[in-house]
Amino acid sequence: MGAQAKPHVLFSRAEIAATVSRLAAEITGDYHGKHPILVGILKGSFMFMADLVRLLDFPLEVEFIRLSSYGGGSQTSGKVEVVQGLSGPIENRELLIIEDIVDSGLTTAFLRDYLQERKPASLRLCTLADKPSRRQVPVPIDYLGFTVPDKFVVGYGLDYDEKFRNLPDMCFLEDEG
Ligand code: IMP
Repeated sequence: MGAQAKPHVLFSRAEIAATVSRLAAEITGDYHGKHPILVGILKGSFMFMADLVRLLDFPLEVEFIRLSSYGGGSQTSGKVEVVQGLSGPIENRELLIIEDIVDSGLTTAFLRDYLQERKPASLRLCTLADKPSRRQVPVPIDYLGFTVPDKFVVGYGLDYDEKFRNLPDMCFLEDEG
């Protein structure tokens, strides 16, 4: 992607709001009364998490994990490291991972193993977006916001080189000129 890449709206803020409401209703149906821990993956999930939890009207906890993967540009290398881990025990707890986007699936596959080793009662995945065309390892998605084409998506928390996270719409980047 060149320095001239411009964002074009893929999903508007109104479509995002409707989708987050639908996901909140699905999650409420499954987790009400279960006191789950929602585990947000930084940095990309911060905006999605903030909008989602305010629609969940039952007791829950929020945790964040920050992962980094080493590679170049917009590609995941598959070598994932935990930069900031969990702040408390999760054994026997109902865990729901909150992801921004599943691309190759390598990050999520790593995270599932990392959390499963800590023996939660259950472990499910909610992702705002899925890019199935690029999958390298299978990832079971329990709650899905949007399926996106094979384009680089930014906005609503997602970045390209740390830029565009603050856009309120989900956009794809296209080189101009
Ligand atoms: P995966 O390991 O290839 O599935 O990549 C997952 C991570 O890569 C996501 O959590 C994002 O942080 C980042 N990523 C993958 N595709 C995109 C995209 O289109 N826009 C922004 N970030 C992306």
